[in-house]
Amino acid sequence: MTVTAKDIGKGKAEPGQFEAGQAVPRLEVKGLSRSFAGRAVVQDVALSVAPGQVTCLLGPSGCGKSTTLRMIAGVETTDAGEIWIDGQRMAGPGLHLPPERRGIGMMFQDFALFPHLTVAQNVSFGLSGPSAAKAARVRDLLERVGLASFASKHPHQLSGGEQQRIALARALAPRPQVMLMDEPFSGLDNRLRDGIRDATLEILKEERTAVVLVTHEPDEAMRMADEIALMRGGRIVQSGAPYNIYNAPVDKAAAAFFSDINVIRGTSKGALTQTPFGEFLTPGHADGAPVEIIIRPQHLKIDFDRGGRGPLPTPQDGTAARGRVVRARYLGRESLVEFEMEADGSRLTASVPGVFMPQLGRALWLMIRRDRCFVFPGQR
Ligand SMILES: Nc1ncnc2c1ncn2[C@@H]1O[C@H](COP(=O)(O)OP(=O)(O)O)[C@@H](O)[C@H]1O
Ligand SMILES: [Mg+2]
Repeated sequence: MTVTAKDIGKGKAEPGQFEAGQAVPRLEVKGLSRSFAGRAVVQDVALSVAPGQVTCLLGPSGCGKSTTLRMIAGVETTDAGEIWIDGQRMAGPGLHLPPERRGIGMMFQDFALFPHLTVAQNVSFGLSGPSAAKAARVRDLLERVGLASFASKHPHQLSGGEQQRIALARALAPRPQVMLMDEPFSGLDNRLRDGIRDATLEILKEERTAVVLVTHEPDEAMRMADEIALMRGGRIVQSGAPYNIYNAPVDKAAAAFFSDINVIRGTSKGALTQTPFGEFLTPGHADGAPVEIIIRPQHLKIDFDRGGRGPLPTPQDGTAARGRVVRARYLGRESLVEFEMEADGSRLTASVPGVFMPQLGRALWLMIRRDRCFVFPGQR
């Protein structure tokens, strides 16, 4: 039998039983809502995070990520909804457990180490119990963040990246069930960030902590998350594995959050839409309804003019369409080439790897990977 959090809530199971049941989340949030001065900032947020899982709350600034995290932490009260950690209710109607009783670790952008304490004292700060066990835990964590030799230094003797790793060790020391991280890497130097992200992720996985990480950077979410919960206007608009979020966005804005996008506009007729690239299947769109076909720049293929003939149509790429280069930018890893399409004057941007820098005004043919297109209702 699988024990679910619901069973525990009904008193059918003990909280301790639920490590065994894979289906039981370490953190479960349902219907979480919060308003400030009559303005809804978080609305009906649901999350479920298993031990060792990293869920990223991703969205633009002001969409309610930090407020959601603060409610889970218990430093902010909820207006509605429930928060469960390890099968215990932390918040709900008439219930608000204080942060120190929730079994959570927290790490924020402006994490402050205690300046008058050594690195070892900072890490052992939240620990109780026999001092030999505490010292062993501190040693182990300092080793794992690669700073064992820094134990007796003070925070001001450390670089930003080193301080960040100490803050991680400090948050993890009491073995929190749930780790809450709010933009923890945004204060760090760009060059340091990737390495520290990877090291942090490795330690979080080893500790089997359930992690909720807030970020406004899609790259960070793609790199860190097992699951991304995409937020907009206080709501989760889509959640899933990074692959699914990237390759099957729910709408145009969700697609645009992860990369530049191209929009090909048309009108559906008989479940088909005409474009410079031939007909597209647009089932479910009424006759006369505007549709938008979305494609990321890296899924446009470029081919040569061949004296005006262009490439032959293929089942996967469909028909090619001719355009002229109006802009080309070299970005190092890729080049962005912008085209004006001959058929309708629309602009499309293709990302090509490396140093392909065509001359302005040159005619080239574009093909679009049909399996990489997303079709959404357009605006009238
Ligand atoms: N204590 C508060 N009082 C009033 N408004 C708040 C408070 N906390 C957050 N807000 C507002 O709620 C919205 C969401 O904030 P926040 O959760 O911090 O967003 P994010 O972390 O996604 O940038 C913002 O418009 C912010 O100004
Ligand atoms: Mg925030």
